Amino acid sequence: MADAGAMARRAIGIALADIDGEVAEAMRYSTAGGKGFRAFLVSEGARLHGISNDAIAPVAGAIEAIHAYSLVHDDLPCMDDDDMRRGQLTVHRKWDEAIAVLAGDGLQTIAYQLIADADDLIADQKTDLIGSLARASGIHGMVGGQEMDIVAEKRAEPMSIDEITKLQAGKTGALITWSATAGPVLMSSDIAPLKTYGDALGLAFQIADDVLDIEGDPSATGKAVGKDEGRGKATFVSLLGLDGAKRRATELVDTAIDALHSYDENADLLRELARFAVERDR
Ligand code: IPE
Ligand code: IPE
Ligand code: MG
Ligand code: MG
Ligand code: MG
Repeated sequence: MADAGAMARRAIGIALADIDGEVAEAMRYSTAGGKGFRAFLVSEGARLHGISNDAIAPVAGAIEAIHAYSLVHDDLPCMDDDDMRRGQLTVHRKWDEAIAVLAGDGLQTIAYQLIADADDLIADQKTDLIGSLARASGIHGMVGGQEMDIVAEKRAEPMSIDEITKLQAGKTGALITWSATAGPVLMSSDIAPLKTYGDALGLAFQIADDVLDIEGDPSATGKAVGKDEGRGKATFVSLLGLDGAKRRATELVDTAIDALHSYDENADLLRELARFAVERDR
């Protein structure tokens, strides 16, 4: 996972080369850490479909740039109002809100630039990736889920399980499924196994994040813990309790792993990743 994260950072770094100023600096700063979970998914899904890391590096950079943008904006005072991210000050605390908004905007758009400029992809492949990434990150995906997340904070009655599932599939699941399916999308292969895997993994991943908000250690997570309940966040933990949410996450990991059977032992790293998603401490 660390290698995939480094590959994504390199791709972003090349696109930002020679650009001076605080916004570019904030873009480099906010992509400097992180687990590289989504880049690893891109790289493994691509490998399973015969695509090399060299060819996929800009795509890994693109998803990590979109993810970093989502985090920079998620941390803003008008959203979750957080001071720490990846073990360092959030962008609006290190600089200011204007720089954070612009760095997020810059990260979002550089993602599409990376795919459009990718040397080893042909035009049809770029169109497919750009279109699907726009849907996964915009109002049909991440942005839509983030909207539900902040609506839930202000709503008196709790959300139903279906609503929370939709919220989390949007805010977190969509980018994870996009990452898992980029490989088969690029080769016009069947996306069904990796889509089922990604959908289940995305939900499990967000449940683990919500569990870490209660049980996690900020020195490992690199961000504040114990915030979701006070802000009235709608999560599987708020609805099912800690044990119920953990059980649900384990079921989802089983679903994710079951979906990989057609890849045989070639998908062992993705199986390991699914277990990591819920066992992680960061
Ligand atoms: C955090 O994502 C935000 C969620 C969608 C839960 P990650 O846990 O992947 O954060 P980084 O990239 O490792 O910092
Ligand atoms: C964030 O979910 C998901 C996105 C940024 C799209 P959270 O708000 O729970 O993520 P953390 O806990 O701040 O990383
Ligand atoms: Mg949030
Ligand atoms: Mg947050
Ligand atoms: Mg969280």
